[in-house]
Amino acid sequence: MSTSAPALSTKVASADSSERKKITTATFRQKKERAEPITMLTAYDYPTALAEDQVGIDAILVGDSLAMVVLGYQTTLPVTMEEMLHHCRAVSRGARYALLIGDMPFMSYQASTEEAVRNAGRFLKEAGMEAIKLEGGRERLEAVRAIVAAGIPVMGHLGLTPQSINQFGGFKPQAKKAAAARRLLEDALLLEEAGCFSLVLESVPARLAELVSKKLSIPTIGIGAGIGCDGQVLVTHDLLGLFDRFTPKFVKKYANFNAEMQRAFTEFISDVRGRTFPSAQHSIEMDPAEWERFMQDLGS
Ligand code: KIV
Repeated sequence: MSTSAPALSTKVASADSSERKKITTATFRQKKERAEPITMLTAYDYPTALAEDQVGIDAILVGDSLAMVVLGYQTTLPVTMEEMLHHCRAVSRGARYALLIGDMPFMSYQASTEEAVRNAGRFLKEAGMEAIKLEGGRERLEAVRAIVAAGIPVMGHLGLTPQSINQFGGFKPQAKKAAAARRLLEDALLLEEAGCFSLVLESVPARLAELVSKKLSIPTIGIGAGIGCDGQVLVTHDLLGLFDRFTPKFVKKYANFNAEMQRAFTEFISDVRGRTFPSAQHSIEMDPAEWERFMQDLGS
């Protein structure tokens, strides 16, 4: 941003703001009842949150995928609470209407229920989030109940839960066998009973996700889980073609921003080397009389 740019409002001034309503967990429920698909994307910074909010996304997840697509780690495991909160704050400054969900990082909720509640609370108290997401099924019920009891909406996450990658042995589709499918359905029902307002289903067979979605009264948000979910989420850096270390089968690339960035950077380098940037248009002029005075000062 140029230093002479006018101060920007931290909130979006959308043309149709009078017609738009803030999305809440109640909206999620209503959308499921009305069979209206719920849209969710990840964001990790102010401009992305601003753009997603401006076009009417229902929910923004500050995912721990941050670790991989922004911070360059091989897995989601290393990202810390402080890093997550830092990015959540930036996102909350850009979004006004979307439901804002902070993803609890690895080991911020697994060690004890008390720690889980305290860390969940930090997302709302310190970082402008309105709900949290955590991974796991029956083993997380105590934490889910305690966080919900503290007044914090919880989104669950089943299937390919990336924080358990070392147990899965890689980023592999889950619940493809009958026993695992049954366990996933049981976990989904238990999470609903424990108070989750919604559930992410990641990389599981489409017909299992559809069945789970029908059995639950809370909405499911699918990623690699087929069309039968109540909503869909993608990692924004995958959708924009900004993360090209690998592309999961379930990702649809809507743009190739990496190529576009490379084109712009190459053009900048070429302009600077060829002395065609900055041109007069991008330079600051001084009043000739002031310049003359300055010259005279120097001469005296
Ligand atoms: O961290 C993340 O971005 C996620 C989504 C894939 C749901 O958990």
